[in-house]
Amino acid sequence: MTTMSSALSPSRPAAGTGTGTDERASHLLERCRTLVRPALAEAVGRLHPWVGEMAAYSFGWCEPGGAPVSAPAGGKGLRQALAVLGAEAAGAPESAGVTAAVAVELVHTFSLLHDDIMDGDPTRRGRPTVWKAYGTGPAVLAGDALFALAVERLAATPGTDIPSAVRHLSSALNDLVRGQADDLLFESRPWTGPEAVRPDEYRVMAEHKTGALLGCATALGAVLAGAPRETVAALDRAGRHLGVAFQVVDDLLGVWGDPAVTGKPVHADLLRGKKTFPVLAALGSPAARPLARLLNSAEALDATAAGCAAALIEDAGGRGAALAEARRHIAVVDACLDSLPSASRATDDLRALLDFLVRREM
Ligand code: IPE
Ligand code: IPE
Ligand code: MG
Ligand code: MG
Repeated sequence: MTTMSSALSPSRPAAGTGTGTDERASHLLERCRTLVRPALAEAVGRLHPWVGEMAAYSFGWCEPGGAPVSAPAGGKGLRQALAVLGAEAAGAPESAGVTAAVAVELVHTFSLLHDDIMDGDPTRRGRPTVWKAYGTGPAVLAGDALFALAVERLAATPGTDIPSAVRHLSSALNDLVRGQADDLLFESRPWTGPEAVRPDEYRVMAEHKTGALLGCATALGAVLAGAPRETVAALDRAGRHLGVAFQVVDDLLGVWGDPAVTGKPVHADLLRGKKTFPVLAALGSPAARPLARLLNSAEALDATAAGCAAALIEDAGGRGAALAEARRHIAVVDACLDSLPSASRATDDLRALLDFLVRREM
């Protein structure tokens, strides 16, 4: 199997490749997780105990029932890292970065709890999803609670531009809902023909469902600190393009990833008819006839057919096209970071995350 690292490295030598960059990115994510954790735990501690336990389970802090975790669990912490580094890049105080990080990480977790119900997925972060572990109703409630908590915590931060920050977060949430709606509606659109989902429609959907929150994360500390409009716009745009790249790679991992590493099911998107980028790109190739025949067959795909589809998507160039698409968006992120008024250690740190995120295997 071609690794993502070797598939990507030829066109991005400048930003560094290989374990050196990965180690730097891992350290950055860890540094930001450690910085944000006390404020996040304090916020989660305000929830109803049962709801708080579901949130803590989702964050990887406990087992179902509340016992301490036996093995490390939890997410990558990308959005909180973007919030901390974006705030640093805008020259905002650390407290603004932490406040932004708590808000976006709570919103992210809310969106995952509900997304796993919508997508019918049984595992996430290497464990049963919250709806599987606690039931659908409780998982919906915990998601709602995290959403409310995010807005409440953001609005309770003294000495910052709260109205602008709440507007920014609400607008990202509106986009997220819009993107999730299109993602679900696309499931029942055909794979080929005039009604098929076009790559441009996919890009809008991915920017909404994933890019909006990454954009909000990257810009929210700057918004809280009253940074200039151009700085906020550049950070938001960087996060949005990073989000599309991130989603395309997430799609790719959903076809060729290892569930033991991603912590999520493989081929679930194919089985549901999700219009993911590798498939849409493959279907645009003249070599895609066998793939189109398989996807258009009257029978719903089973696990064996999904495995065949994955091979046909690769044969038709879907994997390479997805990586190229991710790289195009990363180039825009680079340009947005270049446009910031002053280069800083934090913009370097943000760049260090980019390669890692496209080459990631989880
Ligand atoms: C998953 O996001 C949802 C997407 C937008 C693809 P992450 O891959 O950042 O999830 P965690 O937080 O690391 O589990
Ligand atoms: C997740 O998109 C986007 C949101 C949660 C808003 P996906 O459904 O593609 O992400 P995963 O693969 O389940 O993490
Ligand atoms: Mg999902
Ligand atoms: Mg989804």
